[in-house]
Amino acid sequence: MMRIRPRTLVIGAVLAVPVAFFAWRMLRPLQIFVIGKRFERPVSTTAAPAVLGTLGARRCGACHQADYREWKTTMHARAWTDPYFRADWRHEGREQICRNCHTPLDRQQPRLVVGFHGGDKWDPILKPNPHFDPALQHQGVTCAACHLRDGKILGPYGPTQIRAPHPVAKFSDPNELCVRCHVVPGNRWDTFYRIPPCGTAAEIASAKGRRHGRSGEYVVRRVSELGCVQCHMPAVTRPLVPWGPPRASRRHLWRGGHDPEAVRKALAIRVRALAARAGRREYAITLTNVGALHYVPTGVPNRYLSVEWRLLDASGAVLRTRSETLERTVLWRPFIIDLWDTRLAYRKPRTYRFGFSIHRTPRPAKLEVRVRYHLAPAAYAKRDGYRPKTPLAYTVYRRVIRFAPRAEADGR
Ligand code: HEC
Ligand code: HEC
Ligand code: HEC
Ligand code: HEC
Ligand code: HEC
Repeated sequence: MMRIRPRTLVIGAVLAVPVAFFAWRMLRPLQIFVIGKRFERPVSTTAAPAVLGTLGARRCGACHQADYREWKTTMHARAWTDPYFRADWRHEGREQICRNCHTPLDRQQPRLVVGFHGGDKWDPILKPNPHFDPALQHQGVTCAACHLRDGKILGPYGPTQIRAPHPVAKFSDPNELCVRCHVVPGNRWDTFYRIPPCGTAAEIASAKGRRHGRSGEYVVRRVSELGCVQCHMPAVTRPLVPWGPPRASRRHLWRGGHDPEAVRKALAIRVRALAARAGRREYAITLTNVGALHYVPTGVPNRYLSVEWRLLDASGAVLRTRSETLERTVLWRPFIIDLWDTRLAYRKPRTYRFGFSIHRTPRPAKLEVRVRYHLAPAAYAKRDGYRPKTPLAYTVYRRVIRFAPRAEADGR
């Protein structure tokens, strides 16, 4: 029988601790954000006035027809039914917390949070919700999610300026609404984020040269600087109800990564030839985020842009390719570390180059450069068991440069 020496035992014991620690870090469920006060519980609807019925969007839409028509076309209306969200939510073990932003009203949730086991916000104490309304659940970020607080409908006007069949109160600043869901804190002992995990609001703070911290808390005190509503809800003058007077109002559109036009508007893209050396050609593409005060892309770390070069010969065969990605790269395990971030900050131009020899055989006939927007890497979607019906990526810019067959020979 083999004898184990005491020294071996001691070394083994000393090693076992870090090995077990790292094994635990690699295997434990990944919680990429910290649950902040703003969204630890759903929005309470207990004081909702009877005139609002079940609080369904269609009820509001009977009077506020234009807002309803617009909202229906948005990702807010699909925040629960969006098939990619569904797949990811299942993959993440159907965490309760996801509901507080994707179905934020208490009545949209089958179970109520009545406390937290040992104060751990990821481990809520739940009880069945007698007021659960599955139809309302399917409306995701519905009208009341933003407008209903303490039994009143919040809006830009308030009770001194309008008369409504429901009680109203005035927003202090409408951007406050967006902050609830569009920035999550990331400050925990084991995280090393530069920008909070889904940090749209904090990215704006950093564009303005303000400190936001990993908690993103700064932005809550300076909401009026964020401008979310100003960019994402275009101003329009129209009546709030068909029988009302025209008023300064805002369209309920919230366009973002799901809308190629919104992404195109955010970017200025320029391609140019650099001075050619004998036999060589070099081109540069410069991308500037001119339209979004936050990064492009923003939001969930899945989104990215790619710049793809393809050099082709006269028959259309590909001679060379290169691609760059503009993305946030985070090491998730054993610790969360923001490794690098190549997304586009507001008004900071980024240039990529592509050079090649014109004398190679077969001879290059054209160069194609594309910029594509990706809602998520195909591998993530696959891992989540998501089979997209619409493509996960689309082209936002494409340019083809053709080389004249003769003029090239001198390597001008
Ligand atoms: C994501 C949050 C959000 C959702 C969801 C939402 N709204 Fe709004 N709504 C706002 C904000 C912000 C304003 C104020 C804009 C401003 O400052 O003028 C507003 C303003 C309004 C106004 C006042 C007039 C105006 O446009 O300024 C009405 C009426 C209104 N919303 C109705 C609705 C209805 C009906 C729905 C659902 C179909 C809805 N809203 C969904 C955020 C939201
Ligand atoms: C029966 C009709 C009716 C229904 C239902 C209704 N509203 Fe209104 N609402 C009005 C009228 C009328 C006004 C005032 C219009 C005016 O003065 O121009 C108003 C005003 C508002 C305002 C502006 C408040 C302010 O102070 O700026 C918001 C926001 C709003 N409604 C949201 C909603 C939401 C959200 C729902 C559903 C939960 C809803 N309304 C349901 C008729 C209705
Ligand atoms: C109750 C939580 C909540 C609030 C409040 C909220 N949002 Fe959102 N928002 C979401 C969720 C969840 C999604 C993603 C839905 C999806 O893609 O499944 C989203 C998506 C978006 C998108 C992306 C659209 C796209 O094409 O992908 C934009 C833009 C946006 N919100 C802007 C705003 C603005 C501006 C405000 C403030 C007026 C706001 N949101 C308030 C939860 C919220
Ligand atoms: C100066 C205008 C501007 C301001 C201010 C702004 N946005 Fe945007 N936002 C854009 C444009 C343009 C896009 C489209 C480009 C894109 O999707 O990356 C966009 C995209 C988005 C998206 C889509 C991300 C996705 O995952 O598809 C979200 C979410 C969003 N904005 C939320 C916000 C919130 C929340 C605020 C305030 C904290 C805000 N934006 C402030 C212009 C703006
Ligand atoms: C604090 C609010 C909040 C919480 C909590 C939250 N989300 Fe979201 N989620 C958002 C917002 C806002 C967006 C969209 C805008 C963006 O890109 O950031 C979004 C977008 C997403 C998307 C991308 C959808 C698309 O169409 O590409 C997925 C997937 C998602 N969330 C899954 C989850 C899961 C799973 C959980 C729970 C572990 C969760 N979310 C918890 C606010 C939240």
